[in-house]
Amino acid sequence: MEILKIENLTVKRDGKIVLKNVNLKLSKEEKFFIIGPNGAGKTTLIETIIGFIKPDAGRIFLKGKEVKTEDDFYNLRVTVGYIFQNPDDQLFSPTVEEDIAFGPLNLGISRAEIPKIIDNVLLTLGISNLKNKMTYKLSGGEKRLVSIASVLAMNPEALIMDEPTVGVDNEKMKLLIEFLKTTDKSVIMVTHNKEVVDKLGWPKYKLENCHLNFIG
Ligand SMILES: Nc1ncnc2c1ncn2[C@@H]1O[C@H](COP(=O)(O)OP(=O)(O)OP(=O)(O)O)[C@@H](O)[C@H]1O
Ligand SMILES: [Mg+2]
Repeated sequence: MEILKIENLTVKRDGKIVLKNVNLKLSKEEKFFIIGPNGAGKTTLIETIIGFIKPDAGRIFLKGKEVKTEDDFYNLRVTVGYIFQNPDDQLFSPTVEEDIAFGPLNLGISRAEIPKIIDNVLLTLGISNLKNKMTYKLSGGEKRLVSIASVLAMNPEALIMDEPTVGVDNEKMKLLIEFLKTTDKSVIMVTHNKEVVDKLGWPKYKLENCHLNFIG
């Protein structure tokens, strides 16, 4: 089953074309990387898919239905969890616990279920010790992992992760890789980390000169 389809997406930033006629599909349980040089437009592509940037042309489909209105994009973001390149853009609650609780509460999950959800995602990522910390006092790697935990807590069908491994230590990296290998979620990961690419071995798309090409 197809989750996402991007058709002929063209995006300009500051009047300059960043993406030109980009096509992409994500099916259920499919996982792949998007790689490419700094400034190639990887974050731009992702932020257009989730509705943060308005494309100059092209269409986005969620499960076969065109995504047009703000409500459509809201639904898209419930189905496809987005992990920002900069975790400071993601975290906004005073404590880790509250930050992770926010998404599921917003989705209407009952308060009684929240503690278990929080404990599970923290355990998955090896950061149970951070539960009661203030988010603004976290280290860079800790912020990254909490931002991932906050998205996982909403249990989206698919994940789009923009550089999720930056600053993550070896022990937590093992847990993150184990999670990504075994999850039945669809995943698009943008990364510059060759070790992660090799360890996961997923297919790769390369974004370069405004075009996205499958490179195997
Ligand atoms: N907020 C913005 N306003 C205007 N132009 C921007 C903005 N953010 C990025 N750009 C431009 O869009 C182009 C693509 O940037 P983008 O952040 O998508 O690249 P990227 O592939 O994610 O790079 P990196 O690997 O460094 O994260 C760059 O030329 C950049 O200067
Ligand atoms: Mg980027």
